[in-house]
Amino acid sequence: MADKYSLTNSATGDCVNLDLVSGTDGPSALDITALYKEKGLLAFDPGFVSTASCTSSITYIDGEKGILRYRGYPIEQLAAKSNFLEVAHLLLYGELPTATELVDFESIIMHHTMIRETMRTFFDGFHYNAHPMAIMIGVTGSMSAFYHDSLDIHNPRHREISAHRMIAKIPTIAAACYKHNVGEPFIYPRNDLDYCGNFLHMMFATPCEEYVPNKTAIEAMNLLFILHADHEQNASTSTVRLAGSSGANPFACIASGIASLWGPAHGGANEAVLKMLEEIGDVSNIPKYIAKAKDKNDPFRLMGFGHRVYRNFDPRATLIREMCHKVLAEISDKDNPLLQLAGELEEVALKDEYFIERKLYPNVDYYSGIIYRALNIPANMFTVMFSIARTVGWVAHWSEMISDPSQRIGRPRQIYVGAKQRDYVPIDKR
Ligand code: ACO
Repeated sequence: MADKYSLTNSATGDCVNLDLVSGTDGPSALDITALYKEKGLLAFDPGFVSTASCTSSITYIDGEKGILRYRGYPIEQLAAKSNFLEVAHLLLYGELPTATELVDFESIIMHHTMIRETMRTFFDGFHYNAHPMAIMIGVTGSMSAFYHDSLDIHNPRHREISAHRMIAKIPTIAAACYKHNVGEPFIYPRNDLDYCGNFLHMMFATPCEEYVPNKTAIEAMNLLFILHADHEQNASTSTVRLAGSSGANPFACIASGIASLWGPAHGGANEAVLKMLEEIGDVSNIPKYIAKAKDKNDPFRLMGFGHRVYRNFDPRATLIREMCHKVLAEISDKDNPLLQLAGELEEVALKDEYFIERKLYPNVDYYSGIIYRALNIPANMFTVMFSIARTVGWVAHWSEMISDPSQRIGRPRQIYVGAKQRDYVPIDKR
């Protein structure tokens, strides 16, 4: 493969030679870092469709082939054989842990699950029906005000402590958001339970009654958390990296990632899928809603369908679909009308020319909401669940970026399309 690429101005014949940057897998990229300095030219790529913003050794995606790998390991193998904290170790440190390393890592995480008592009182300031994602953003950001002892981002040990604190405490904050919404007392974490079991305990136990997590529920949560843990430079991860590139502290950066994740085109899609299925209501209404999704004058989109990167199928959706059936068969009602509706809608859309032509397939969020519903987790908590899992990916990317000696502040440019220079007009003359 040529290691240079030439771009020529067809009018003037002026030519620029660009280096090609290649990774271990995936497409090469044109190195345009000198383009502006040498030629006064910018690259224009709204939505970053053709832009690699960094090099990274964490996650690899091939959208055409439906491949997702964390640190080289296929997602299917991790989903079948691993658990969330083992995957968290892999994403954070680059390697699967040995048996001793795993025990140590689990112990560190499970012994840092409590939040400061004063932080707990922040929840009282939120209205009872505040969206849990709004509380998550605020309380996660507030962690910067509590852990001053680990905020030197240039100290690797400080970065590690912050990473551990974040992974350990985010589920506690998330469960507290839920308890605030439903008006129940906060439930303290239990360090003898595993990560997912402890989260379910904090969600559903009360001071009057212990909660014994169901084995399949824990299995399903482990799977969902593994599948949601990272997805390279998506909107929220890029937000975390951009916020972190200025030297902002890790807690503030993760809060910015949670804010970005909230949008319905990103992590908010799982909540939107459930709302959509409820709105459709019955299989007889499917044709009407498919027509709405295809109508350019109608803002309605089939939520849970389509992906910027996956153009054939989302490998995570395939795994979640199987788990969805298992959960409904073992925990919930297998004749659940919502699942039947979801299955029918998927089938109709996949046969429709509009969706085939545009390569629109169910994404990870299409079935995750139905699983969460079966676990009694309310729809407004779905994106919160996503943020618990993605915290690991955000922290891994933030850490990778900060430890790169060539890291600079992220500062995109623009094509200005506003007014040309004009003179100020006094108010009485306008
Ligand atoms: N329903 C109907 N039409 C769609 C959908 C959809 N869900 N998704 C894309 N299209 C159409 C677009 O209208 C466009 O049609 P056109 O070529 O005739 O103009 C074409 O497919 C390409 O779509 P884009 O919007 O250009 O694709 P983009 O890569 O920008 O968007 C996105 C990807 C945001 C995920 C989009 O597919 C979408 O909005 N899906 C629904 C929301 C969703 O499920 N988001 C979760 C993503 S996964 C995640 O974040 C974990």
